[in-house]
Amino acid sequence: MRPGWLKTRIFLDSGDPAETKKVLESLGYLDGQTTNPTLVARNPEVKARLDRGEKFKRQELLDFYKKTIQEISVLIPEGSVSIETYADAQTTSGEILEQAQEMFAWIPNAHIKMPTNSAGLEAAQRAVRSGIRVNMTLCFSQEQAAAVYMATQAGQRGDVFVSPFIGRLDDIGLMGVDLIENIIKMFDRCNGHVMVLAASLRNIYQLLHVIRLGADIATIPFKVLEQCTKGEISQPGSDFHYQRPELKRIKYEPYINFARNWQEMNFSHSLTDKGIELFSNDWNTLLSF
Ligand code: E4P
Repeated sequence: MRPGWLKTRIFLDSGDPAETKKVLESLGYLDGQTTNPTLVARNPEVKARLDRGEKFKRQELLDFYKKTIQEISVLIPEGSVSIETYADAQTTSGEILEQAQEMFAWIPNAHIKMPTNSAGLEAAQRAVRSGIRVNMTLCFSQEQAAAVYMATQAGQRGDVFVSPFIGRLDDIGLMGVDLIENIIKMFDRCNGHVMVLAASLRNIYQLLHVIRLGADIATIPFKVLEQCTKGEISQPGSDFHYQRPELKRIKYEPYINFARNWQEMNFSHSLTDKGIELFSNDWNTLLSF
């Protein structure tokens, strides 16, 4: 059981059910798990197959992903399991939605990951209206999170996650945890249907910082969770800060206008485009075509 003081839900960021089992043994609980094409490519079964020089046919890879997701779902039936749709720069909203409909039927506790770009937001709007839960991934700005909020207004709390990517912002010299703080502050004046999922966490200190901020969910790589002393997440003090003085702080944007349509918002971000390219490449390298 998650300790009473810990309000942030704890997810594992992994494409390997063996890691889910290990975390359940060491931590004793998990509120969910996130997967993505890169994590699927790191699955030991996939790696062994590639080492033998064997690649997957498209349907075979999808079947492998489905089997993996079903194994994870059985291990955490009360939790949420995020499944990522394939998207490259050309993928349309209709294609994302079609995948979402198929993947959502794989397990009873799915959230479907879609990129926070135009096609992903359009697909999410339609998906949420039809009762599909979504996790909007590759979010790098406050305005993208606002666009997620606007596009998914048909959803109830728990139906929609937005995943700001902390580590990838740090990688370009920005203080990623500030984005989590800014989005939480912005959503304070909203109805709360979108839950903030801190993603791309690279170390325990970022985790403690987002817990202190009150992020709804944090998804944590196995290697980071392994570093928790005695398999427990320690309680950060009220003044705990992730210390990276060399990183540039991200300012809060107080004037985002929620009266507009999401289509009029500035939801494009170069890191989202780059992330889409990386994820689609990682998926495509597994395919024999
Ligand atoms: C989870 O949903 C994300 O896909 C993941 O945290 C990304 O992490 P990375 O930036 O380390 O690849």
